[in-house]
Amino acid sequence: LTYQGNTYDLPVVKGSEDELGVDISKLRATSGLITLDVGFKNTGSTTSDVTFLDGEKGILRYRGYSIEDLCEHSTFSEVAYLLINGELPTAQEFEQFKHDISRHTLVHENVRKIFDGFPADAHPMGVLSSLVTSLTAFHPESLDPNRDPKMVDLTIHRLIAKLPTLASWVYKKSIGHPLMYPENKLGYIENFMKMMFGLPVEDYEIDPILVDALDKLLILHADHEQNCSAATVRVVGSSQASLYVAIAAGINALWGPLHGGANQAVIEMLEDIHASGGDVDKFIDKAKDPNDPFRLMGFGHRVYKNFDPRAKIIKKHADAVLEKLGINDPLLEIAKGLEEKALNDEYFKARKLYPNVDFYSGIIYKAMGFPTEMFTVLFALGRLPGWIAQWKESRNLNQPISRPRQIYTGEVARPYPTK
Ligand code: MLT
Repeated sequence: LTYQGNTYDLPVVKGSEDELGVDISKLRATSGLITLDVGFKNTGSTTSDVTFLDGEKGILRYRGYSIEDLCEHSTFSEVAYLLINGELPTAQEFEQFKHDISRHTLVHENVRKIFDGFPADAHPMGVLSSLVTSLTAFHPESLDPNRDPKMVDLTIHRLIAKLPTLASWVYKKSIGHPLMYPENKLGYIENFMKMMFGLPVEDYEIDPILVDALDKLLILHADHEQNCSAATVRVVGSSQASLYVAIAAGINALWGPLHGGANQAVIEMLEDIHASGGDVDKFIDKAKDPNDPFRLMGFGHRVYKNFDPRAKIIKKHADAVLEKLGINDPLLEIAKGLEEKALNDEYFKARKLYPNVDFYSGIIYKAMGFPTEMFTVLFALGRLPGWIAQWKESRNLNQPISRPRQIYTGEVARPYPTK
């Protein structure tokens, strides 16, 4: 260990708590030892009162309310309020919240000029994160380092209001359609769907089943404790950078195929299986073969050693949406086939590999007409209130600037080579 210029030879103890017969967190707290935990894996080194997750039992709760109850009784906007403010809104608070958001759905016309410069085939997540960062320039008062609560609320409302507008613009541009402007008399989801799928020249019928399904999907994605993107938002926020750039950083973290990009990877996998004849058994065998590069996407999760509770709810909606739309998607049949086989297979059972949230969500998005590149954007729309709640908690607690403790593993001091 090199610390303040001195090099120490320290014993390195490797092994799990069970193998070593110690409670590492207690040992750490009492002895001052530090744990080398690349990527904040399993140390439970942070606390939060936003989201509870029990991966063994498959439980997920926002602010103490189960995800099942929230999906049954609340809308996404109510859940957003809950995550951000800690309580479900009263009728009056909710009216005010909706009003505060709907008045900010437009974006500055110069943001549109920045947007115009992006190529039509740019990945939507890159465009979205850039435009969210650009909001800092149009609302510089959000940089207030003292975090005036009114300014914080205004920034939160602006973000929630503007993200659907920006997201729909990216899609419209990718297909060469005129951009749609928000209609504030519509609800949050209806407005987004109209901006996505409507045209200025014709009426757009908003199907309530699809609105409900998207609303539920966004609720299911609204928070998932301190994972890659939420931790990123907290880390960036800890430097007192503006909320806009902290959220833009979260969007970038989410973009990757191991995080939010996973549902896109699932659909691509299902399409490949379908194109090669749809033999589910063959692909289950491939997934079990350590020498085969094929991976069963959407199965297993870092924290769930049980069914991802979100996947169970999504599966029900997948059936309802496809039935309503009269779509007989062979990909859903393949997905169900894979799930059934895997859940009855010793290999998957022993490894506790269950379908996760990404396994079915893409099938619904696809049925609704969203192209695969937009899937991660939908994840970002859903996750926004969670990121905001995580940021707010960290800032309200005045958590210090993030700075991981590092163990130096490089060369010791070396003499500079002389010629
Ligand atoms: C999520 O919802 O963010 C994903 O399941 C990833 C995670 O929580 O690790």
